[in-house]
Amino acid sequence: MYVCLCQGVTDGQIRDAIYEGCCSYRDVRETLGVASQCGKCACLAKQVVRETLANVHSSHAAAAHTSNFIAA
Ligand code: FES
Repeated sequence: MYVCLCQGVTDGQIRDAIYEGCCSYRDVRETLGVASQCGKCACLAKQVVRETLANVHSSHAAAAHTSNFIAA
C-alpha cells in the first residue's frame, strides 16, 4: 500500500527501512524522503513507523527471552 504518493513510498519500504536500521520516524523520513513534499502522508507514515517499531521491540524481547531459556 502506498503511504506517500509524492515520493512513491509504500508501507513495506518503511518497514524494510526500520528492519535495516532506522529507529525513528525521523530516520525513515531522511532515508526514504517520506512526507518531504505535501506532508499529507505524515500521519500515516508515523503510524506505520510506530507499529513496526513496536513489533521489532516485541520480537527482540521474545528473542532475548528465548536465548535466556536456551542458556538456562
Ligand atoms: S504524500 Fe507524502 S509528501 Fe505528499
